[in-house]
Amino acid sequence: RKKVTIQTLHQQKNNGTPITMLTAYDYPTAVACSSHAVDITLVGDSLAQVCLGYSSTTELTVSEMIHHTRAVARGTTHPLLIADMPFGSYHTGMEDALRNAVRLVQEGRVEGLKIEGGAEIAELVKKLTSVGIPVMAHVGLLPQRHTAMSGYKVQGRNHASAQRILEDALTLQEAGAFSMVVEAVPKELGQYLTEKLRIPTIGIGAGPHTDGQVLVWDDMMNTWNGHKAKFVRRFANVKAERDVGVASYCEAVRARAFPDPQAESYSADKSEWELFL
Ligand code: KIV
Ligand code: NA
Repeated sequence: RKKVTIQTLHQQKNNGTPITMLTAYDYPTAVACSSHAVDITLVGDSLAQVCLGYSSTTELTVSEMIHHTRAVARGTTHPLLIADMPFGSYHTGMEDALRNAVRLVQEGRVEGLKIEGGAEIAELVKKLTSVGIPVMAHVGLLPQRHTAMSGYKVQGRNHASAQRILEDALTLQEAGAFSMVVEAVPKELGQYLTEKLRIPTIGIGAGPHTDGQVLVWDDMMNTWNGHKAKFVRRFANVKAERDVGVASYCEAVRARAFPDPQAESYSADKSEWELFL
């Protein structure tokens, strides 16, 4: 497969080819994405909950993120590789933000960064873009602000809120964002943003009219018992398969049905073994 570039994604918007994006947190998942028509592999900070067992993305550090992006990078071929800037890594001033961004690219080996926020991060987007670090914006529901937003709620339901998201989106585009994740908004707003922006929109819970779709790996694969949002579709049931595997293994060991003495065991050379007897 051909390497996906920012230019490829912009062409996809213009010729109407939907962009496919999936999250990955480790090497085997990165290989899976690279083995199929995934355009963008995202090391999302959902890493915190679905992979590391934290209760919020706000607990994830830059070093933890880098540990995982390096593994994902080793398994990534054609997809564009993006990571989330973790909560706190871009809040304490431009220098800190730049340093963390550089770490994520240099040590973490990602090709671009996704950053949650509206007009208030436009200067940062401009700065990173100016030094050659591509930025994917993220508007609508911002999970890093779930406490301030009183939970994980659909955004842009009334006119004022939708207007604010549209203005943020246009500001981020002007600041140089190369694409934009739009999370948990009415499908009408997902479509409107997609029509108003030159850059590709990638929706999650933003309806069928965005330029692309993204889902969290563990949600779409059903690997865990986490809350299933309305916008999640289960494309596979890994948890069921995995549970069958673990239960059968334990049962077979307890019953001494594993390993099989022939098919799954080595045999000694008879003449050598006789020396013991
Ligand atoms: O962290 C994440 O997985 C994300 C996607 C859901 C867009 O930000
Ligand atoms: Na995220």
